[in-house]
Amino acid sequence: MDRLAGRVAFVTGAARGIGLAIAKAFLAEGAVVGLADRNREVVERAAAPLGSSAVPIVLDITRSGEVKAAMEGFVERAGRLDILVNNAGITDDAPIQFMTERQWDAVLAVNLYGSFYVTRAALRYLLKSPAGRVISLASIVGEYGEPEQANYAASKGALLAFTRSLAKEIASRNVTVNAISPGLITTPLTDMIPRPVREAIAAVTPLGRPGGAEEVAALATFLASDEAGFITGQVIRVNGGLLMG
Ligand code: NAI
Repeated sequence: MDRLAGRVAFVTGAARGIGLAIAKAFLAEGAVVGLADRNREVVERAAAPLGSSAVPIVLDITRSGEVKAAMEGFVERAGRLDILVNNAGITDDAPIQFMTERQWDAVLAVNLYGSFYVTRAALRYLLKSPAGRVISLASIVGEYGEPEQANYAASKGALLAFTRSLAKEIASRNVTVNAISPGLITTPLTDMIPRPVREAIAAVTPLGRPGGAEEVAALATFLASDEAGFITGQVIRVNGGLLMG
């Protein structure tokens, strides 16, 4: 359980759900982890039981100045940065003809612009790591589409293009850049989906159930580890078989 010993990671949206599961998995493998989220009380409550290697960071990823300052402060304290996980994400669904500009902008601001701001702020540190890693949470919706989620799908599809471009851009510096594309995963985000809809998705999922956040975290841990050193520019699915090929 020391696959990430000596490594330092920064995980956005780490106060709950998949981000928190990734932070816990990285900590269990020996990493120091910055848990970044937008609500101070919530992120401090999440980090407190995880020990002194878990560092709570208050951050709204849609504010580029705040992102830069938080990243600098964290790396100054931790001494280095090896792994970035762009996990923070939101949904705000509506049929396209009723979707407001505010809904469109809000989702793009977090899922796409926020990931750009955080990645840009992290890069100068990741380039100094002997084995830098950028891991972004995309979605099956960004690959396959979903009614009433055009804003979310567009943001996640763009994140895949961002991943491939960045992977090519910094491969020569030994930083790998990959995306994880989950299907339905049980978290506070998907708890908002009506139960019959969740059951219908599980019914068409070959493995017949939603995934757990720890099952996504296991993949993130592998991608962050030395074992995944020859994997870059990839979209790796963790979806119970819901989308194949
Ligand atoms: P969640 O809603 O449970 O957790 C997301 C976290 O991000 C929250 O703690 C929230 O406060 C934080 N966050 C949101 N906006 C932020 C901002 N501007 N600045 C800082 N933090 C912010 O979501 P969940 O389910 O854990 O999802 C994590 C990621 O995985 C998201 O990018 C989501 O789109 C993606 N995903 C999730 C799936 C699922 O079934 N749960 C499926 C496919 C992708």
